[in-house]
Amino acid sequence: MTNGKGTPSPLREGRGEGRFLLLGSGGREHALAWKIAQSPKCKKLFIAPGNAGTLSVGENVNIKVNDFEGIKAFCIEKDITMVVVGPEDPLVGGIYDFFRSDAQLCGIPVIGPSQAGARLEGSKDFAKGFMQRHGIPTAAYRTFSADSVEEGLAFLRTLPPPYVLKADGLCAGKGVLILPTLEEAERELKEMLGGMFGTASSRVVIEEFLDGTECSVFVLTDGKDYKLLPEAKDYKRIGEGDTGLNTGGMGSVSPVPFADAEWMRKVEDRIIRPTVEGLKAEGIDYRGFIFFGLINAKTMVNGQWSMEPKVIEYNVRMGDPETETVMLRLKSDLVDLFEGVATGTLAQREVEFDERAAVCVMMVSGGYPGSYGKGFPISGIEDVEGSIVFHAGTTMKDGQVVTNGGRVIAVSSYGRDKEEALRKSFTEAGKIQFQGKYFRRDIGADL
Ligand code: AMP
Ligand code: GLY
Repeated sequence: MTNGKGTPSPLREGRGEGRFLLLGSGGREHALAWKIAQSPKCKKLFIAPGNAGTLSVGENVNIKVNDFEGIKAFCIEKDITMVVVGPEDPLVGGIYDFFRSDAQLCGIPVIGPSQAGARLEGSKDFAKGFMQRHGIPTAAYRTFSADSVEEGLAFLRTLPPPYVLKADGLCAGKGVLILPTLEEAERELKEMLGGMFGTASSRVVIEEFLDGTECSVFVLTDGKDYKLLPEAKDYKRIGEGDTGLNTGGMGSVSPVPFADAEWMRKVEDRIIRPTVEGLKAEGIDYRGFIFFGLINAKTMVNGQWSMEPKVIEYNVRMGDPETETVMLRLKSDLVDLFEGVATGTLAQREVEFDERAAVCVMMVSGGYPGSYGKGFPISGIEDVEGSIVFHAGTTMKDGQVVTNGGRVIAVSSYGRDKEEALRKSFTEAGKIQFQGKYFRRDIGADL
């Protein structure tokens, strides 16, 4: 590369393809960074803002995921050739459209949907309407706003308990309430519509409660075709036996035994394909991950009960802590798949799964998901053998790795089966120490 005068331009020296910027700072992003960095097509990887773990596979950059102008300046300065978006926030905020409409950035592909596509996660009401329009199985529902509180209360009275209330907008995972009694549901509905989650709950979806086991299914799509990634099960509650408060996720397991070929065929026919085709039919630009939060729900079919997949929610990104097992089981080159997404040639790419099981055990701060301290030194990571340590809420302080969030470290392992992988993760998690550390010892025990 020259600067036009025959002398090499220092700015572009050694540059070209394969220069990545990954946005985010959690365990999901460390796992994505770990996988991207393994690709022969990756020449340079930056993570913004990253964590203490992503330092081992790339270079951290102190830019926030919603600072679009800061991201723009960085992409130009460092000649970034692809941006991969970890969390939903910048997608719902329109980072894809920001790149497409900027003369200097429009040549840089962004892995993640347009703002219109991100409504699948950013608006529960949009997601439910989309599923209804395309005949995708989900819980029956209605949406209410502050001027229809009375209708909302009347609708609740027609439903059997428990009651499911969902704030329409993003609430950092706190916008879904499942209430055992009508009284509580009525009270919470009034509070939500009264501004409990600000504008995010100015509309509330009330839906039928579905009983069954959940499973997270992931695809990458280029807007025309899709590739299925390994599925995983997430453990959301803080306590063993699925008790206590909801968290971001306490562990994950892949594969999921009930997600066999027959069940996955139903998922592809009834849910995945109609979703990808529905996006296309509605003219929505979508090039990225789709995360189908599914439930294997007890459903009446032709007068008989059977277990059928239904959609609980869409997310427009990978799951966390599912990514910390899914990336272990994805044998193919992730960057090659991203190139397929960016160039609309996904159909020509191969996805190969690792036959082994993979699990992840999340180590969290004492007090989480309530209030917890930060800044506690973490020791023992260097003693871990045979497992892969993904950092979630960690940072470097004076050369020492310290806690910096509720979910701190994900210990991921392979095994011939999930039992072997879990034994490894539990043993290795025992070697890592920080004040107040806690992890669930029953991940995968229900499967
Ligand atoms: P969401 O944010 O929509 O995934 O909801 C959070 C969690 O609430 C889900 O992972 C489920 O465990 C639960 N949930 C949401 N909707 C329903 C439903 N209709 N029936 C039963 N559980 C639900
Ligand atoms: N593990 C669930 C999520 O990422 O939303």
